[in-house]
Amino acid sequence: MTNAPMLEMRGITKRFPGVLANDRVDFDVYPGEIHTLLGENGAGKSTLMKVLYGLYQQDEGEVLIRGEHVDLKEPANAIEHRIGMIHQHFMLVPTLTVAENVALGLAPATKINPDLAAVSARMVQLAEAYGLHVDPHAYVWQLAVGERQRVEIIKALYRDAELLVLDEPTAVLTPQEVDDLFVTLRQMSADGKGLIFISHKLHEVMALSDRITVLRHGRVTGATVPAETSRGDLANMMVGREVRLAPDRPDVEIGDVRLSIRDLRVVGDRGTNAVDGLELEVHAGEILGIAGVSGNGQREFAEAVVGLRPAAAGTVEIEGKDIGTDPPAAVRAAGVGYVPEERMRDGAIGDFTVEENFILTNHDSAEMSHRGFLQFDSIKEHCEELVSAYDVKTPSLDTPTHNLSGGNIQKLILARELSANPRVLIAAQPTRGVDIGAAEYIHSRLVEARGSGTAIVVISEDLDEVLALSDRVAVMFEGTIVGTVDPAEATREEIGLMMAGVVDAG
Ligand SMILES: Nc1ncnc2c1ncn2[C@@H]1O[C@H](COP(=O)(O)OP(=O)(O)OP(=O)(O)O)[C@@H](O)[C@H]1O
Ligand SMILES: [Mg+2]
Repeated sequence: MTNAPMLEMRGITKRFPGVLANDRVDFDVYPGEIHTLLGENGAGKSTLMKVLYGLYQQDEGEVLIRGEHVDLKEPANAIEHRIGMIHQHFMLVPTLTVAENVALGLAPATKINPDLAAVSARMVQLAEAYGLHVDPHAYVWQLAVGERQRVEIIKALYRDAELLVLDEPTAVLTPQEVDDLFVTLRQMSADGKGLIFISHKLHEVMALSDRITVLRHGRVTGATVPAETSRGDLANMMVGREVRLAPDRPDVEIGDVRLSIRDLRVVGDRGTNAVDGLELEVHAGEILGIAGVSGNGQREFAEAVVGLRPAAAGTVEIEGKDIGTDPPAAVRAAGVGYVPEERMRDGAIGDFTVEENFILTNHDSAEMSHRGFLQFDSIKEHCEELVSAYDVKTPSLDTPTHNLSGGNIQKLILARELSANPRVLIAAQPTRGVDIGAAEYIHSRLVEARGSGTAIVVISEDLDEVLALSDRVAVMFEGTIVGTVDPAEATREEIGLMMAGVVDAG
């Protein structure tokens, strides 16, 4: 291993209208090193990486690769310098095969058809070297998220990337897939590649990093190594104050049954019963956590409850009223709030402004419209309150939502759903992709809603989250609840085994 950095970013400053996204950032990576960038939502991590990949041009500062000044005007320049990037949102073409996607943009302009057989053969080699298994002939639309990510990594390796940026790669993965990814990443670093890793999950950061640099408000505020820090210290460094990793849950008197589900069956995208005889009850003032590896029917369950997907059998009652076949607007009118798992797809419209997204689902409420006319002043006021209460970092209410950082979009949707004071709230992966300060905030808001009597279902793959929030934990496996446990008594191991379908609650 050499002692010279493969990458040096010096004094990088990047401004957007109303935002100083990077403020004189120094950042470097050595060969064979896994260097983590840590910071709150909107701290400037993705921006710094987009400067490195030629997607944004810095206003000030310089980038050196292997000691040489480089001018990165577009991704093609970054790729020439053997930089690869796995984006926060994937960029594959769903209607092409895996091999075609890997070959895309590789062929010289004169050669229209790249040699797909050669591409497939080399893909197989890379797959073996790094444990990245995926069928070259499969279409991308057929692949699960974890597989798509492997295609992105193979694509970068195919272009001989020596320095790889992974922007929140684990946010979309199951715990098992995260373990597999880490094996791949460690192999890459052992081969001398430099890796830049971004994640909000501190246990991942502690497990994987050689070095950790913290960004706050666009500035580097510290750097450390796992041996010299702890999850708590990292959280405090990021947020700049003491952070509590688990919320206080005051005792709340449990009220009447708000949500009651009997024998629910829901057909999934593959044509089989994704939800298969599910039963549960949630009371006012209670948080029911649903733990489980994703893909066990959680999404179909939530979509059926909120009216986005038909139930094949069973009943769903809100306060004793059957809403089984009601459309989403009627379910919402019955008092059901929904924080969907895929928020960019199902929860917000990227091209709409922040304000438009806030009023997306309740624009016909009395407060916001009068005889069919929107009440612009009260809407503005309401939105401004939400932005400040939920700490949504945005230059203005008129900013297009896709300009917000990932975590801030989540906060926007949560603010919208909770501010409608739902009778029942279904929150799927409520803190996925959200920084530690925002997670603390979202958790305290959920606990607050519980205190005011909302019946809450939290669906999460993050066992720490489920255990910290829930009054009861139901474990979902293959479309049913295989057991319900008291989080104060059950161990992580017991719940883990139930999640894997190994044992039922006794
Ligand atoms: N294209 C853009 N136009 C305007 N503002 C932008 C643009 N891209 C990013 N920003 C702003 O720059 C700041 C930094 O955003 P960035 O996406 O780098 O944050 P991040 O650290 O990656 O956050 P997250 O953890 O939420 O992904 C944010 O305030 C964001 O709103
Ligand atoms: Mg980001």
